Amino acid sequence: MRSIIDILDLSTTELSELIATAQDIIAHPETYSEACKGKKLATLFFEPSTRTRLSFEAAMYELGGNVLSVTGAGTSSAAKGESVADTAKTVSCYADIIAMRHPKEGAALVAANNASIPVINAGDGGHCHPTQTLADLLTIYREKGSFDNLTVGLCGDLKFGRTVHSLINALSRYHNIRFVLISPEELKLPSYVKNETLKKYGLPYVQSTDLEEYLPQLDILYMTRVQRERFFNEEDYLRLKDCYILTPDKLKKAKSDLCVMHPLPRVNEISVAIDNDPRACYFKQVLNGKYMRMALILKLLKEAQA
Ligand code: CP
Repeated sequence: MRSIIDILDLSTTELSELIATAQDIIAHPETYSEACKGKKLATLFFEPSTRTRLSFEAAMYELGGNVLSVTGAGTSSAAKGESVADTAKTVSCYADIIAMRHPKEGAALVAANNASIPVINAGDGGHCHPTQTLADLLTIYREKGSFDNLTVGLCGDLKFGRTVHSLINALSRYHNIRFVLISPEELKLPSYVKNETLKKYGLPYVQSTDLEEYLPQLDILYMTRVQRERFFNEEDYLRLKDCYILTPDKLKKAKSDLCVMHPLPRVNEISVAIDNDPRACYFKQVLNGKYMRMALILKLLKEAQA
């Protein structure tokens, strides 16, 4: 049974096919309105979410399917100590596909190994968030027309930022990509991402603590939130939380066709004064996420039936 735990579970050909399906859904939504009639998506969210859960659910409804939902660890039998494995086996009796978010790295893989239906990782701790990357890729494609020849700045919490890890893995497979990794010392990209992706494939990258120095060079700026929920120590969080704030004044130094992205939720990282700037793409990502999740649900259900 095919599940998607990591963005690397999808080949570049499959990513192109998902983007093509999403674009067809955007152009002809009526063609897809009954594509999942009679099918059920279970959304199992053991960690807070607005975009990912609601976009998965909107995606399934727009495909003509139905949704079963667990929101919050306290509302399911996980609160009584039920394992992820038993939860996955149980939900397989009721639904056709699962989207799961969990605070523990590896939880989605455990679910996939025990479910008899496809499992989509909707975020596992600080590890991966592959469907956010699908949203990011469609946004970059619609803005830039290609994934090649881009200088991509990633700024903020690169240590715990699962969306950053998944996006680096995805973009590393395209041509002439250069990364600028901007973070405080304490929140630098983990060595395993550097060693297993950037160094392994010989991808050019620089590490810096200075956003303004590199801003003029960037084609994409991917801002991220310093995540309070990943810190053990409140003092460290308070010291680091506002380390990068993108303002209209700073944006004056950027390219006129820069694409400013953020997986959201935003706290202070991007001034709301930037929201109406044509370079602001973060709410486009939100909408593109629904279309890519529609394309992925269609693909996995079709493969499961074959
Ligand atoms: N980008 C993202 O995962 O948002 P939510 O946490 O609201 O789902």
